Amino acid sequence: MSYWQELEHKYYMSTVERVPVTLVRGQGARVWDEYGREYLDFVGGWAVNSLGHCHPVVVEAVVGQVRTLIQTSNQFYTVPQVRLAELLVQNSCLDKVFFCNSGAEANEGAVKLARRYGKLNLGGAFEVITTMGSFHGRTLAMVAATGQSKFQQPYVPLPNGFINVEYNSIGAIKAATTNQTCAVMLEPVQGEGGVNIPDDDYLAAVRQWCDLKGILLILDEIQTGLGRTGTLFAYQQLGIEPDIMTLAKGLASGIPIGAILAKERASVFTPGEHGSTFGGNPLACAAGYATLRFIIDNDIPGNANSVGQYLINGLEGLKRKFQFITDIRGRGLLVALEFSSDIAESIVMACLDRGLLANRLKPNALRFMPPLIIGNDEVDEALSILDKALSTIIS
Ligand SMILES: Cc1ncc(COP(=O)(O)O)c(C=O)c1O
Repeated sequence: MSYWQELEHKYYMSTVERVPVTLVRGQGARVWDEYGREYLDFVGGWAVNSLGHCHPVVVEAVVGQVRTLIQTSNQFYTVPQVRLAELLVQNSCLDKVFFCNSGAEANEGAVKLARRYGKLNLGGAFEVITTMGSFHGRTLAMVAATGQSKFQQPYVPLPNGFINVEYNSIGAIKAATTNQTCAVMLEPVQGEGGVNIPDDDYLAAVRQWCDLKGILLILDEIQTGLGRTGTLFAYQQLGIEPDIMTLAKGLASGIPIGAILAKERASVFTPGEHGSTFGGNPLACAAGYATLRFIIDNDIPGNANSVGQYLINGLEGLKRKFQFITDIRGRGLLVALEFSSDIAESIVMACLDRGLLANRLKPNALRFMPPLIIGNDEVDEALSILDKALSTIIS
């Protein structure tokens, strides 16, 4: 264990099982550890480094903004906040934006917005239907929204008002809907829960049901948004529009930011009903604007789509070679590789030894969420390392 890792054990709360590497520098899709060892990064800060590490447009925007204005109170208008909000609205189906600092905070705010809508329009309805296997964040309310008992059990009793139902089942949503329901909140693809892709008609059926009942559809695009799944937002592949959408992760390519977007009719907050000290500050919004502008102007979603397909094709090749690969699934550059047994940890370590960072999604699955700017060359390199790492399992 290195000096820094020993200090971490002494001073830092142990909330995550760390991979034994201390990263000190990043550029593009590469990172370097404290000994100068280079790694190809297919974790991407947990689907955050959309433009890779320290992309020049982000660095330039951040440095320029740091020298100009970092933070003001939200009582004042600021230019980067308005510019980013305008760009998001111009490129989505939503009309209004609120910025915060993380995904959990965006979802928490989205649920508050839906409850407010319920109070004003649905006779005080406040319940939100979410799904098993989802992941919506770590605040207490978002743990209640997250339909995974491993996140919930340590903290029961949880805030009420969340009904977790089976994913990919319109019947389950219908059965859970009552006159207390104000919204359904879903990930278009469940990311953390396993890169679970629902049937093609699921989201359209949920949209129809929400319309019929007059309740809101909240899409959590924190992981799927900003080009990750091959279009700027995943809903664009589904032929539907959400009433509320949340973003975070890749929006500012690594500078902390979250966003709630809403249709005009669902945008019911009035002054004083919601807020955030740091949310939408000039620094984060300048990074967000630079990131989003680059994503749009350079068709980064298109790149994620084609490179993602190339990655999946390559993984299919490995599946033919290694019988213990049981499934490959993904959209764009959000891809999972599943095994017949719990070997993910060993594969992650074998990849690490060979210079590739991969994420252990589940005991028997890996997840790849590299920067969206990678090309087929990086995929070839990752596949070659993965091939060697997988070979260690049978030898
Ligand atoms: C779909 C989804 N929603 C919400 C979150 C929570 O985001 P944050 O960790 O920024 O609070 C995550 C994080 O992984 C996520 O994948």
